Amino acid sequence: MSDASPRIAVLGAGNIGAALIGGVLKAGAARPEQVAATVRSPERAEELAAKFGIRVSAGGNLPAAEGADLIVLAVKPPTAPKVLGEVRSVLREQQVLVSLAGSVPIALIERLLDQRMPIVRAMPNIPVVVEEGATAISPNSACTEEHVRMVERIFRSVGVVVTVDEDLMHAVTALSGSGPAYVYMVIEALIAGGVKMGLSREVSTRLAEQTVLGAAKLVRETMLHPAILRDQVTTPGGTTISAIHELERHGLRAMLISAIETATRTSETRTLALLDKFGE
Ligand SMILES: NC(=O)c1ccc[n+]([C@@H]2O[C@H](COP(=O)([O-])OP(=O)(O)OC[C@H]3O[C@@H](n4cnc5c(N)ncnc54)[C@H](OP(=O)(O)O)[C@@H]3O)[C@@H](O)[C@H]2O)c1
Repeated sequence: MSDASPRIAVLGAGNIGAALIGGVLKAGAARPEQVAATVRSPERAEELAAKFGIRVSAGGNLPAAEGADLIVLAVKPPTAPKVLGEVRSVLREQQVLVSLAGSVPIALIERLLDQRMPIVRAMPNIPVVVEEGATAISPNSACTEEHVRMVERIFRSVGVVVTVDEDLMHAVTALSGSGPAYVYMVIEALIAGGVKMGLSREVSTRLAEQTVLGAAKLVRETMLHPAILRDQVTTPGGTTISAIHELERHGLRAMLISAIETATRTSETRTLALLDKFGE
């Protein structure tokens, strides 16, 4: 298998799967003829084939998996065992299976397959659609460094990639997997605040979205702790400190920490339920 341009099969090219295909093609990590995808409905298959110039079938998981070096399992978690059951007879140890199915542990995937093979569990997030995703990956012990590099390259085409121990995937799910939803709430509230103070909805939206984007970019580019950046814009006796006082009074930081803790526990519970249902 060449790590430069693997043949890729995306089983379940929905939001995340299709975004991954778009990113991979745009970055030149694979050519259209090297990519195959499956979905459930013929209409969606037609739409994706026309959009990307790749082979897409409704169903057809088995032939797609058979002809690939790298198989991305991108169906919803409850569908993952069924699709793995469909393709397991053609999976082989020369391939790499990348599972995006949230809360589905590698141990369960290994149990559902007939043989040991390289498996990478990955947790991307929805900004992969605009190539600004945050993806954490966890390889199983059958993966070589070359396998991991190949998978990193795929996800780097749609954003940032980190490697974590699989135990930490619950925390990743809570932070970056679900995180866009929290940030959307923040943006929504900033817009509402601007509108309350008389800005037009359009102006408020542009200012709010760019403020979040710009603040995040500054954290990344300066590599300074956010508290330092915050202090830099907080003039003694000024407007920012009066707003920060309100945010502290209402416990913004404690709220977000608790939200991530709660979502982590929910992810753990989901995994236990899946193991209960599909495990031994
Ligand atoms: N969305 C997120 O923010 C996010 C973040 C991290 C991880 N994930 C994980 O990524 C995976 C995909 O999520 P998503 O939001 O992209 O879901 P989605 O948009 O619902 O995509 C699922 C895709 O699977 C297809 N499908 C359903 N049954 C199938 C089958 N038997 N064979 C082949 N394809 C089948 C569907 O086809 P049709 O389009 O024809 O219905 C759809 O295109 C999930 O496991 C999720 O846990 C999602």
